[in-house]
Amino acid sequence: MRNAKHNAAEILERHPREPPTISHRLPVQPANAPDPCAATQWIQNRHRSFRPRIGIVLGSGLGDLAQAIEEPTQIAYRDIPDFPEPKVPGHSGQLVLGHLEGAQVAVLQGRCHLYEGWSLEESLRPLRTVLELGIELLILSNASGGINPRFHSGQVVAIDSHINWLFQSTKSPNRHDTAGYILMRNKRTYDAQWLTKARETAEELGFSLPSATYLATLGPNYETRAEYRAFGRLGADIVGMSTVPESILAMQLGTPVLAFSVVTNVANPDIPTATQHNEVLAWSSLARSRLEPLVSRIASKYFSTPNRNH
Ligand code: HPA
Repeated sequence: MRNAKHNAAEILERHPREPPTISHRLPVQPANAPDPCAATQWIQNRHRSFRPRIGIVLGSGLGDLAQAIEEPTQIAYRDIPDFPEPKVPGHSGQLVLGHLEGAQVAVLQGRCHLYEGWSLEESLRPLRTVLELGIELLILSNASGGINPRFHSGQVVAIDSHINWLFQSTKSPNRHDTAGYILMRNKRTYDAQWLTKARETAEELGFSLPSATYLATLGPNYETRAEYRAFGRLGADIVGMSTVPESILAMQLGTPVLAFSVVTNVANPDIPTATQHNEVLAWSSLARSRLEPLVSRIASKYFSTPNRNH
């Protein structure tokens, strides 16, 4: 019988491995995927002088943050080529271009979740477009369930790591291209320097910003008590249904990510209670009173003067 070593050598000879490269290029698109640049070009053709420095994704119940944008241009997702339209209450589905504290920003008001039936590529198209506009920082926000009993409803936390319970992420369909995986090992998904700056900024505003490990599930159901307990044992502090694919895509394209989560309901697995979507929306709107000043102060401190170093 031929030994395994011999087989491996033969396979490698037939399918030589490309040396793994660490690159910031886009993952290769399948041949039938829409041109990933179509929406970007469509926006650039209409707003030629607009160069956003920050991209912001507003999650469940946080869409009202877009009201802080000055001189806004609002574009419905349905009017942008290839954009999917969110189907969930609390996600309005529009791109807002404008200024926040003197910084040019592109805001995605509402996101599409995998549980709505979108493919990963479709759900990420709005974010991919905003990343392609050349932003220097991506700020993600979401609503989450608290697992760590230190957290309370209405609290804002910063995600510093995640557990990908979606079991999928953007990657090249070319099986020899390992760039995405290598980046995952070598680079932090959530930028450590920006996390420090965000924590300092929160303290200036009078509140603390704890770090949290976020676990993403497919949803749309909230968790059973057994699941909250299990996710806690896995090391998750909070749980939600988004953000992880977005963070991975931004990391693959080389854009630093800050991700804030509003803890809307803290799970107590020993007391049977049901999580309701309107409860989630109510707590997230309360947390706006912290999240909005935090994001605005980051914009004014680090981005309001063109090309200011940070
Ligand atoms: N689980 C999942 N997603 C959530 C929750 C939750 O408890 N709360 C808000 N988003």
